Amino acid sequence: MSRPRSLAGRPVVITGAASGIGRALATRLSRLGSPVALADVDADGLNATAAALHGRVLTRVLDVRDAEDQLKFAAEVQDWLPAPLAAVFNNAGVAVTSSVLDAVIEDDDWLHDINFHGVVHGTRAFLPILVAQGEGAIVNTSSVFGLLGMPNQSAYCAAKFAVRGFTESLRQELALGGSAVRAITVHPGGITTNIARNARVRRDPTGLGRSREEMAAQFEAMTMTSPDKAAAIIHAGVDRGKARILVGPDAYLFDALARITPTHYNAVLSRVLWRSRRKETVR
Ligand SMILES: NC(=O)c1ccc[n+]([C@@H]2O[C@H](COP(=O)([O-])OP(=O)(O)OC[C@H]3O[C@@H](n4cnc5c(N)ncnc54)[C@H](O)[C@@H]3O)[C@@H](O)[C@H]2O)c1
Repeated sequence: MSRPRSLAGRPVVITGAASGIGRALATRLSRLGSPVALADVDADGLNATAAALHGRVLTRVLDVRDAEDQLKFAAEVQDWLPAPLAAVFNNAGVAVTSSVLDAVIEDDDWLHDINFHGVVHGTRAFLPILVAQGEGAIVNTSSVFGLLGMPNQSAYCAAKFAVRGFTESLRQELALGGSAVRAITVHPGGITTNIARNARVRRDPTGLGRSREEMAAQFEAMTMTSPDKAAAIIHAGVDRGKARILVGPDAYLFDALARITPTHYNAVLSRVLWRSRRKETVR
């Protein structure tokens, strides 16, 4: 299979562009000459991202849960497009921390609507444009939590496994249909973004009584990759024609565990988690 054309200089769509990985992707690709169509529910954050860019930008306040609005956005992007669309990054996402026993249905539904249905709506809105062009990539953000289950992350893991299943199915369909359009899954490890600070947490499910801020700080201390580095890895992965992009050294550990010990990985992870928890208690 021939290597795809580089994203640099070609138009892209990015959701969740007001913060974190989405903002870093927008900054990187815009700097490399790509016109960027940016969407987010956070208008202020979106404007801050756009204000720092020098190239061509379209900003759109969009809740990815709204399928109709995603279709309208896709039509607006098509009107605005200076050239064929190179990639659509369905990146917007949120987190919830809770045990299954204590799960609050509204929180889990909120997460599934954004992290899974938002990705499906974005894919359905833009796929016809890419198919008509005969090129381009749908790049859907899953997670390492789309490779392994994690305690107190059942809703998040379920949504990220779903993104993976949906995108892998699409990839097979496109290949069977002989389309040059690609469907790519991104599996980031821990990235230092606002995701944990914006998470819904009713109470610390570990029983340690930590506040959301304390949990977020602990999450951030464990992350291994900056948003800029994540954007560089994702960009390189798309350019190299990868179907699945692992982001960060921890992502490779999760991937290896999923292959080597698909049923007992939790024993290894529990040991790692237990150690980090013990360090916290000792501090
Ligand atoms: N940070 C990590 O460690 C990590 C790890 C694995 C996967 N991810 C995934 O990466 C993606 C980006 O997250 P991030 O870490 O940059 O977090 P972030 O919180 O910094 O950015 C997420 C962005 O999504 C936007 N968003 C939330 N709900 C939305 C909605 N309904 N409609 C439109 N936009 C909405 C937020 O406003 C925010 O700008 C997410 O899908 C997340 O699940 C992150």
